[in-house]
Amino acid sequence: MDIWVPRDAAAKALGAEAVVAAIRAEAGRRGVDVTIRRNGSRGMVWLEPLVEVETPEGRRAFGPMTPAEVAQIFDGGEKALGLTEDLPWMKGQNRLTFARCGIIDPLDFAAFREAGGLRGLERALGMEPAAIVQEVTDSGLRGRGGAGFPTGIKWNTVLGAQADRKYIICNADEGDSGSFADRMLMEGDPLTLIAGMVIAGIAVGATRGYVYSRSEYPDANEVFGAAIRLARENGLLGDSVLGSGHAFELEIRIGAGAYICGEETSLLNSLEGKRGVVRAKPPLPALEGFLGKPTVVNNVISLATVPVIMERGAEFYASFGLGRSRGTIPLQIAGNVKRGGLYETAFGMPLREIVEDLAGGTLSGRPVKAVQVGGPLGAYLAPHQFETPFGYEEYAGQDALIGHAGLVVFDDSTNMMKMARFAMEFCAVESCGKCTPCRIGSVRGVETIDRIAEGDGAAVELLTDLCQTMTDGSLCALGGFTPYPVMSAFTHFPDDFGIKAREAAE
Ligand code: NAI
Ligand code: SF4
Repeated sequence: MDIWVPRDAAAKALGAEAVVAAIRAEAGRRGVDVTIRRNGSRGMVWLEPLVEVETPEGRRAFGPMTPAEVAQIFDGGEKALGLTEDLPWMKGQNRLTFARCGIIDPLDFAAFREAGGLRGLERALGMEPAAIVQEVTDSGLRGRGGAGFPTGIKWNTVLGAQADRKYIICNADEGDSGSFADRMLMEGDPLTLIAGMVIAGIAVGATRGYVYSRSEYPDANEVFGAAIRLARENGLLGDSVLGSGHAFELEIRIGAGAYICGEETSLLNSLEGKRGVVRAKPPLPALEGFLGKPTVVNNVISLATVPVIMERGAEFYASFGLGRSRGTIPLQIAGNVKRGGLYETAFGMPLREIVEDLAGGTLSGRPVKAVQVGGPLGAYLAPHQFETPFGYEEYAGQDALIGHAGLVVFDDSTNMMKMARFAMEFCAVESCGKCTPCRIGSVRGVETIDRIAEGDGAAVELLTDLCQTMTDGSLCALGGFTPYPVMSAFTHFPDDFGIKAREAAE
């Protein structure tokens, strides 16, 4: 009997290891021969640890499983959920980037190959670099880290740059609140990310790559380190990738926990052993990046999506989505929800559907007040904006951003002025200190919101002014985007800032 239990950090945090021990003990008592296999997460975090039993019809799901309930895996019971693939959460998705996540053992190279993991790279190996770049451009893939810059255009800049060395850097410093797609991918299907980085290397003429990860992700770092060794043993990395003559080597580096090191130029400084301070652009990293050489800096999800694009073609990938947001996006649903997790779908799904249908509304049962989309620099969207289709331009039109597609849901007990204050405070704590609007502005921002809280009406105009200065004058997105959560909270929830009460009093 083959039983799958995720080794994903979320599953482990919810007791997966204790469940494994209990299954072994229960099987021993019953005299049943059991093989425990480890996979990544299927993304249904509210069902973790999600145990799956291999059957001729497919895998049968049981969850959320506790050690006391493991007998149900053998006898059935209320935790038996039926075939995993038939669960509504699984059925509704377009799993392209996460196709193998939760299905294969992430450290089983043969299973990865059998599940088609190498097909994209194999196709790329038979193509000219410019043709690979063109394919990625035609797919419409845009940077999934947050900024949404077209990946193919970035690669083209690096391809065209003349240099003795070029680099591929994967940004795995997933610092946005509510985001966990990078971690889940690195833990559930790390070889796909490696394949994506190798393809990027062949496309732009780079033979070396680095994954910049974070100390907060010990499980991901361990699995990814093991995956690099496995890739070397199986010829996916080394002097001649899959016998092609193309060389590519890879290392993982781990940051020390500064949010700003997720910004690409601070990341490069940190990788070079310097303090993680933002560099002015230009020069673009694509021309002068790591150690001054042309460098592709892409997020985990951008790079891990390249293999499926190369395998199935640009047209196939671009057939998903809407407007200029092509392909799929792994929505990460968190906060006050009944069902949190990762759901990969074509761009275009409105927030109402995400929050009500997928997430099942709030866990508290109270009405949804706001959803923060795109991490701590993302805007709070109010219910009247919930029909906005999930897309880069569509969100920009609402003075919002989709960022890394992390969504944090809040109910009506949330005070949005406190959330605005938190955004300013976060900026003050995480500011790299290089530019004045952010370094000083964020501290003054906290003070100004405190003045508003104390009933100082004149401070409202000051806050608006300050936010405009931060937007216009900050060197990077931390200072430049902090006004999104602040001003969205202020614009959509003026009552929480005491505006109406003050107007009435005047
Ligand atoms: P940006 O708009 O300055 O640049 C986007 C990307 O395109 C960069 O990699 C830049 O080097 C590149 N680029 C621009 N023009 C180019 C050209 N002509 N050729 C080649 N490459 C070119 O945005 P930035 O500051 O890199 O990122 C901001 C975003 O990052 C925000 O949307 C924010 O939400 C997100 N973010 C995400 C975090 C996370 O944890 N995922 C953390 C912090 C911010
Ligand atoms: Fe540093 Fe903030 Fe300026 Fe960005 S906006 S460069 S984090 S001080």
